[in-house]
Amino acid sequence: MKKKILILEGDGIGPEVTRETMKVLRTVAASFGHEFQFSEALIGAAAIEAKGNPLPPETVTAAKQSDAILLGAVGLPKFDQDPSATVRPEQGLLKLRKEFDLFANIRPIKLFSPLLAASSLKWEVLEGADIVFFRELVGGIYFGEPRGRNATQDEAWDTMRYTKDAVRRIARMAFDAARRRRNMLCSVDKANVLECSRLWRETVNEVARNYPDVTLTHLYVDNAAMQLIKNPRQFDVVLTENMFGDILTDEAAQIAGSLGMLASASLGPRIGLFEPIHGSAPDIAGKDIANPIASILSGAMMLEFAFGLKAESDAIWRAVEHVLKECYRTQDIKDATTLEDKIVGTQDMGNLIASQLLRLSA
Ligand code: IPM
Ligand code: MN
Repeated sequence: MKKKILILEGDGIGPEVTRETMKVLRTVAASFGHEFQFSEALIGAAAIEAKGNPLPPETVTAAKQSDAILLGAVGLPKFDQDPSATVRPEQGLLKLRKEFDLFANIRPIKLFSPLLAASSLKWEVLEGADIVFFRELVGGIYFGEPRGRNATQDEAWDTMRYTKDAVRRIARMAFDAARRRRNMLCSVDKANVLECSRLWRETVNEVARNYPDVTLTHLYVDNAAMQLIKNPRQFDVVLTENMFGDILTDEAAQIAGSLGMLASASLGPRIGLFEPIHGSAPDIAGKDIANPIASILSGAMMLEFAFGLKAESDAIWRAVEHVLKECYRTQDIKDATTLEDKIVGTQDMGNLIASQLLRLSA
């Protein structure tokens, strides 16, 4: 298979983790007989610095000419320190999501058993947890109009908006996924307070009529946040609107041990974007200590969801699992029993996973 992959490294640790994913994808191509062509374009702070625009038109053009996009991370503290900055790195990612209508953000919370001790949660609570989030990604308060500030700058507003169509299409994808898993779907909302959530719940209930075999439950987002760490095993597929999904998936990262482990796929009608859930982590950028696994697993998700290469994708997941079983750890996933010589950097972790892939396919 021949595919064009657009690399958007972005900011902070984005470039270094993405490089390891390219290494792993090249290994997959070599051992399974595929051809992946990589090209690069700018996004985020890097694009603001070079072009004054977090999503330059060249990047959109490059995306249109590609079969899938691999993104590193966006964001730089310089912009966080100036809340009045109107041009921000994150806008690049949000515009890209909107431009390609990437409405379905799939975030699997997969706990590799060797990492049971890496989480701040007790292993007996975590063991066996396996959740996948379906986060609506192009609606809600992230994009609703009007938004802004008054003339005297002492008042600001954002708007949460949803249409039934927007709820329906993400709900269907989540129900379909539940059918391929344990047939349970939990929809998260705040229907006791928000109009949007009442529309959300009503629409999810309507869609549910076509899925009588899937057990549907509803949770208010505050309760969901608590239940996630109280008993994560109760969840199979979780369906949420945009901002609730953003918050809950960071929380759920502790189920997988670290934010550095979580991959995601953002799917739309034309192209898929694959990116780790974590941010640009500027404090550790350029030090070769960032965990590349979230990005590498995003590469695995690309193979499965964008190219239909399930065996190749599974091979990456297995290679990661194997390297973890051999007790190799990046800083963020080490625990009290990790030996000093098993703590590896970003590049070494990428190399270990790539060589394990080669061994698996030999
Ligand atoms: C995420 C990130 C983004 C979001 C930011 C970088 C805009 O936190 O993908 O979860 O809020 O969606
Ligand atoms: Mn987030």
